[in-house]
Amino acid sequence: MKATAMANANIALSKYWGKRDKKLMLPQNGSISMTCDGLCTTTTVEFGNYKEDTIIINDEELQKEKEDIIKHLDLIREMTGIKQKARIVSESNFPIAAGLASSASGFAALTLAATAAAGLKLDEKDLSMLARRGSGSASRSIAGGFVEWHRGEKDNGSDSYAESIVDKDYWPEFRMVTTIVTEAKKKVSSRAGMAQTVETCPFYEGWLKTVNDDMDKIREGIKKRDFAVVGLTAEENCLKMHATMMTTKPSIVYWFAPTMEIIQNVRLWREEGLECYFTIDAGPNVKVMCLEKDEKEINKRLLSLNGVIKTIICKPGDNAKIIDKHLF
Ligand code: PMV
Repeated sequence: MKATAMANANIALSKYWGKRDKKLMLPQNGSISMTCDGLCTTTTVEFGNYKEDTIIINDEELQKEKEDIIKHLDLIREMTGIKQKARIVSESNFPIAAGLASSASGFAALTLAATAAAGLKLDEKDLSMLARRGSGSASRSIAGGFVEWHRGEKDNGSDSYAESIVDKDYWPEFRMVTTIVTEAKKKVSSRAGMAQTVETCPFYEGWLKTVNDDMDKIREGIKKRDFAVVGLTAEENCLKMHATMMTTKPSIVYWFAPTMEIIQNVRLWREEGLECYFTIDAGPNVKVMCLEKDEKEINKRLLSLNGVIKTIICKPGDNAKIIDKHLF
């Protein structure tokens, strides 16, 4: 009744922003991401004779905001008939809730560990659909390499899952340099932000109209290892998503001053011939895409900027896995 899983976070190249079904976590649009080897969450789950569910994240027991995790456990208890409470210990090697996709690796690791602890063996597609119920982007962290989450058409969500486009060894030169400009928790969660956008943004229709085209370009670009197409389309897609956030009522601006500083510099460096592109999620931290040959130079330049506290360099990473070493 105890299992441990490891899952990597993922960074979307073509973003998911908005749900068509909040309960089943069905997206308004499909998305494509890279699973990141440097951003990892390890989670141990044990069902046992506990009085209540206990959740310990990075050595701290969660007192508030436990509902989403407990709801996810309940889903797995319902599927398996298990009545016992659980102890969950989880560790991430990067700052959580700062727009670094911690919910993606967190819910992917939790889904895999909890189903295994409950004695349930699911294939990747079913795991992805179950992880999706915890956090949409977690559906993509079940798979490795470059991953597509299909929007799906069905109301019951049975065709809305993620799978690899290519595995992690297909394009090993691709780098995602994650900058951290603040480790503070963001004020508006992606869940609340996207709901507000769907309800109030006058440009949301424009986002939906163009996102499939971005996905086609990025998917083909990945298959051809065409860095310019993937990088530029990802950058445009990110700016479009942020334009919907900024024009939502009340307006959501996730950027800080260093966010803008990185954006301007990435464009300057590109003009000078150093090829790099940026993408940003629901937070102020910027992820800079480059190829292995330019990784050192770009990392050095990013670290020399005023607002950058640190960087984490990621390669395409593995799918979620069961491991033997438990956290308790
Ligand atoms: O599933 P969530 O709540 O982690 O939402 C993810 C939203 C973005 O990170 C902004 C985009 C994405 O596709 O990852």
